[in-house]
Amino acid sequence: MSALHPIDALIAQLPKTELHLHIEGTLEPELMFALAARNGISLPYADIASLRAAYDFNNLQSFLDLYYAGAGVLQTEQDFYDLTWAYLQRAQADGIVHTEIFFDPQTHTARGIAFATVYHGISRALETAEAEWGMTSRLIMSFLRHLSEEDGFAVLEQAMPYLSGIDGFGLDSSEAGHPPSKFQRLFARCRELQLPCVAHAGEEGPAAYVREALELLQVCRIDHGVRSLEDATLVQRLAAERMPLTVCPLSNIKLKVFADLAEHPLRRMLEAGLVAMVNSDDPAYFGGYLGENLLACRRALDLGADEIVQLVRNSFEASWLAPAQKADWQRAISHIVAAWQVEQAL
Ligand code: HPA
Ligand code: ZN
Repeated sequence: MSALHPIDALIAQLPKTELHLHIEGTLEPELMFALAARNGISLPYADIASLRAAYDFNNLQSFLDLYYAGAGVLQTEQDFYDLTWAYLQRAQADGIVHTEIFFDPQTHTARGIAFATVYHGISRALETAEAEWGMTSRLIMSFLRHLSEEDGFAVLEQAMPYLSGIDGFGLDSSEAGHPPSKFQRLFARCRELQLPCVAHAGEEGPAAYVREALELLQVCRIDHGVRSLEDATLVQRLAAERMPLTVCPLSNIKLKVFADLAEHPLRRMLEAGLVAMVNSDDPAYFGGYLGENLLACRRALDLGADEIVQLVRNSFEASWLAPAQKADWQRAISHIVAAWQVEQAL
């Protein structure tokens, strides 16, 4: 066995935060089968191996079709708890100290599952992780953009009793043909609720959708945003405003946004001064959690220690942690990097 690459050792040691993770996208095939059995649901796959074999996507929509179908096994509050708890255990093993997760309530309310069932299951797991390990988190309620703005207003109404436990709003699902402008009134309402907004933009959609998300939805982070690079003026603006871009490299390869990880623009994004960082998006479907995304990028793009540390620092900067907590984690990173450098010099 070859020795661990020194930068991979650093990746393992650094405290990390994840800012772009769909909890429904952490549903591993094993848990999908277990929940299907528990709830008396039959899946259209003979076994776990054939389900995994179906995870061969052509584009975003071919993934979303499977992702929404898979979420059908989630029925009870315990199911949502088990889903979230399984993710949090993996996150802790990965060195994640803070996570900001998306949930898609419309995927569940459309199937007759109460908003409260979804919300309580997820939040109870997040509370347990904070009590047991001190892992902090934020919960982002995401609207499905393939549905109407009116549908978004309806689910927002259902969320009102739980707003104290919701930290922000997002926009996801099929991007092409569903521009941010479709949700301008809904996001204006979300901002009136004094909660921060983010939106997926520039994943499959054009750089113009990133502009719309900034100008019309007034988001404080762009999810993905990789196609911003097609517009040099937009890149300058994103860098000048220190607007975070939550990049998801393995997701981009699985959904064929880029042909190969070696062609991924992550390094170019850092060189352009963008506040980019690495996230896992839907790790059960895309073949890797956060640590694996960082390791794969380090290898494919030959990232140096400085670039890895910049990505991890960007992630804390872009998080919704309080300024004092961010400063504590940035100091912790400095100590770990200093110790790692001493080790390298030996
Ligand atoms: N893009 C858009 N919608 C999504 C994604 C994604 O990567 N994952 C889950 N919903
Ligand atoms: Zn996403």
